Amino acid sequence: MTRHLLRDDDLSQAEQDEILDLAVALKKDRWKLKPLEGPQTVAVIFDKSSTRTRVSFAVGIADLGGSPLIISTANSQLGGKETPADTARVLERQVAAIVWRTYAQAGLEQMAAGTRVPVVNALSDDFHPCQLLADLLTIKEHKGNLAGLTLAFFGDGKSNMAHSYVLACVTAGMHVRVASPETYAPRDDVIADADRRAEQTGGSVTLYTDPNEAAAGADVVVTDTWVSMGKEEEKLERLRDLGGYKVTQELMALAKDDAIFIHCLPADRGYEVDAEVIDGPQSVVWDEAENRLHAQKALLVWLLRQD
Ligand code: CP
Ligand code: NVA
Repeated sequence: MTRHLLRDDDLSQAEQDEILDLAVALKKDRWKLKPLEGPQTVAVIFDKSSTRTRVSFAVGIADLGGSPLIISTANSQLGGKETPADTARVLERQVAAIVWRTYAQAGLEQMAAGTRVPVVNALSDDFHPCQLLADLLTIKEHKGNLAGLTLAFFGDGKSNMAHSYVLACVTAGMHVRVASPETYAPRDDVIADADRRAEQTGGSVTLYTDPNEAAAGADVVVTDTWVSMGKEEEKLERLRDLGGYKVTQELMALAKDDAIFIHCLPADRGYEVDAEVIDGPQSVVWDEAENRLHAQKALLVWLLRQD
């Protein structure tokens, strides 16, 4: 059966584990698996800007023996004259998988419903599941395990990153804390889905308005830009509303002594995180950025094996 990764809870805990184990193996031996040898093509479509996602998919697909086809929606019919479902029906006859960075989650769902090849969400307004596979791999490398760890997120709790931390980390059996103003708390339906998943994994999600309470004793501290792509018009309001949720050295000091700091990047130093934290000894953001490559390769191998 064709499997897709549209949101983090599309994977069970066991499946997430399997992909992370594969990512570890592929990181050790980069050219070990070549399921795309032939070569087969993977379409990687961007409606929004990208550095890490574009590069890591292009390099990863080539590592797997395949050929990446990078498409900017601005130069395609998708988003203009053609629906996601019709685009999917055209692509599936020529490519092994479709990776898409877009705005609305509904577009990804329409794309997936219309095709027999795997569709991967490379970031939507709601979720960024590829980033979470890389983040979990990074946390595992630095902490040895995932289940039972506490991750504290600060800032825009309605962002794609916050929603993905909630779903992916609870799937991994972690305890997720989201610290944000009440109006920026994660969406109710995402929390309800995470709560249901938590019953199976032993994880949990807890919402805070006090950043200090959320940071206390955390193993992993994380934030994301206060102005996600598509939210530029709200910039001034967001900088004002989220100002109290900056990750500073003082906030880091409340977490465990061996806590790590992660950030999906790009980062606005001085806004959501101070330079001394992101450029300091607890930050593992460069490992995290590299792990996009290994995690996404594992994901593609896994998805192609499900067919
Ligand atoms: N973290 C991330 O997805 O980065 P890009 O926007 O550069 O792809
Ligand atoms: N929340 C950010 C993530 C960037 C990788 C955005 O959507 O712009």
